[in-house]
Order: sequence, then C-alpha cells, then structure tokens
Amino acid sequence: MNVQQAYDTWSGTYDDDHNLTRDLDRMVMVQTLAGRPFPSILELGCGTGKNTGFLAQLGETVTAVDFSPGMLAQAQAKIAAPHVTFQVMDITQPWPTPAGAFELITCNLILEHIESLDFVMQQVHRALKPGGLLFISELHPFRQYLGGQARFTQDEQTTFIPSFVHHISDFMQAARQHGLSLQNLKEWWHDDDEGKPPRLISFLFQK
Ligand SMILES: C[S@@+](CC[C@H](N)C(=O)[O-])C[C@H]1O[C@@H](n2cnc3c(N)ncnc32)[C@H](O)[C@@H]1O
Repeated sequence: MNVQQAYDTWSGTYDDDHNLTRDLDRMVMVQTLAGRPFPSILELGCGTGKNTGFLAQLGETVTAVDFSPGMLAQAQAKIAAPHVTFQVMDITQPWPTPAGAFELITCNLILEHIESLDFVMQQVHRALKPGGLLFISELHPFRQYLGGQARFTQDEQTTFIPSFVHHISDFMQAARQHGLSLQNLKEWWHDDDEGKPPRLISFLFQK
C-alpha cells in the first residue's frame, strides 16, 4: 500500500484511534502559535483537519492541502469556513500555489513520508513572503531510530506507512540551503512518555 492509499484507508478512523503522537502534535501547535495572527497560511498535509480549525482562528485565509482525497473529505466535512480552502496537492510535485503568497506555512506529521526535504524547502522558500515562517512538527528522529513510524490498525491488521528518516541535521541543512534560518527548535514529550526519548521535534524557520 503506498502512502496515499494508506491515508485514504486510515481516513475514516484517524480521528478516533488511540494516537498519542497526533494528540501531542495538536498541543504543540497551540502552544507554539496561539495568539499569533497571520494574513495568509498554507497548511501542508492537513489530513482530517485536526489543525485546520485552529489555523482558521489565526489566519485571514488558510489554504489546506493534502494528496489523500479520503483525508481531505474528512477535513471538509468538519470545517466549512469561507476563508478556508481545501486543495488536492502532492507536495513532492511543483506546487501550483502562487510565489511569495504566505506568511506562515505549516507541516505536521507529514515529512516522514517525504524522501527529499530539499525539494520541499525549495518550494517553501518560493511560496513564503520575505520574513514568512515555516513551522514543522514531526515524529522525532530518535523515535524513528527505535522503529517508530506512522501506522494504523484496522480489523486486527496493522499497516506500516512508508516513511523516511530525516536526522535533525538534515532538516537544518535543507532549510539553510534554501534561505531559511532557524528561529526555534523544541523537543516534546507526551505526559505518558516519561523516561522515553522525545516523541516530537518542532522547528520554526524564517525566510
Ligand atoms: C499523519 S497525517 C497528518 C495529518 C495532519 N497534519 C495532522 O497532524 O493530523 C499525514 C498526512 O500527510 C499527507 N501526505 C503524505 N504525503 C503527502 C504528499 N506527498 N503530499 C501531500 N500530502 C501528503 C497524508 O495524506 C496525510 O493526510
């Protein structure tokens, strides 16, 4: 099953599954971005819209994109606001979004499925306004080293979704190569993660 097919299959149960990574990511978003308004936001890999509603409170316009029709359908059923637009888009292909259009681009739990950070950072640089921000929240590579990866279980069968390890230095180098400078890096644990390596890592880069 490829990544797109896997998320189409998972879409109906994604919101209700026991998933500490999904829940922590939501908290990370709120803790990092609450109270910061942005005229124009691009959300990459919006999934079922878990973070889209929150971004809709911050942005005058929000463009939420994903390549899984199943995930997008869940998001669209949840969020009907005139300033939020949903779009089918594969972020590994040249982006149809206009250049220099966004003050904030967000990326939550999607980059583990992307082989080349380089291409994504290039497209981010093109899409951001000067001074614009890129926020990334991803499964921490320390977890990946221990075998962590996106997965779901339906009918007692577990599907492991194809994923790639990106070391912390990979994020830093790809961003720097494309004119994005690090503003903040944080590591995050869920309350149930005591004694374990960090579950998530977040970066805030600026163009
Ligand atoms: C784990 S879900 C995260 C969804 C949402 N950001 C969240 O935090 O709940 C990963 C999402 O990335 C999307 N995705 C993966 N690869 C993609 C690609 N190449 N282009 C666009 N979306 C992609 C999947 O379809 C899925 O909706």
